[in-house]
Amino acid sequence: MTQRRPLIAGNWKMNCLRADGLALASGLAAKAAEKGSLGCDVLVCPPATLLSEAVGVTKGSAVSIGGQDCHAAMSGAHTGDLAATMLADIGAEYVLVGHSERRADHGESSTDIRKKALSAHDAGLVAVVCVGETEEERDLGATLPVVNGQVAVSLPDGATAKNTVVAYEPVWAIGTGRTASVEEVAEVHSAIRAELVARFDDGDQFRILYGGSVKPSNAAELLGLADVDGALVGGASLKVEDFWQIIESCA
Ligand code: 13P
Repeated sequence: MTQRRPLIAGNWKMNCLRADGLALASGLAAKAAEKGSLGCDVLVCPPATLLSEAVGVTKGSAVSIGGQDCHAAMSGAHTGDLAATMLADIGAEYVLVGHSERRADHGESSTDIRKKALSAHDAGLVAVVCVGETEEERDLGATLPVVNGQVAVSLPDGATAKNTVVAYEPVWAIGTGRTASVEEVAEVHSAIRAELVARFDDGDQFRILYGGSVKPSNAAELLGLADVDGALVGGASLKVEDFWQIIESCA
């Protein structure tokens, strides 16, 4: 019987000025301290401006901090980018790579994402590799080949259940209030699981998160599915109470 500890991750995206962001991070750390033992790991991914201070206000708590992206290279002439080593250096433990907003806004391919994941691993970070089909791809019946293809190319050969988390986020469910149905989520997660098991010795141990309009009212049902090992939450991670209720859904 495999034991996968759930991971509840908040992606703040390009939100939160300093006061609000630090209040949110420290509010979560306080809740976690008050509760004691949690039924899941907790991660928040603030914008780059707040990463260092967010590490500071969550230090010693159950809340881990992650970046929202990293460059494939460890240093060099890449204006505006952050190296995985820089994230590790300030105390971040995770980094999101391949979010659909990065794929769309910055033209990142699965090959680019594999290089970023490799650099995250080299820096000692856990890479949260995001995959997901567009609405058009779903309507064409191409969901499983698209997602399986993204998983195949985006995950480096050295990925393990310890250094890599997969996040399935259907693009049409992000920020739309439209969540994939439990049947849709279960189908894709089980296809991703099969692919991980076929390729990696510890494929049954990888955590596969669902993301896309996760909120307190639907979290428990989604987290109850067999191959859903946590959630990647956008909008509902911006309020302590909402995010906390999702964390509590793991208990
Ligand atoms: P929402 O929860 O706002 O739909 O965002 C999901 C997401 O993109 C998390 O990375």
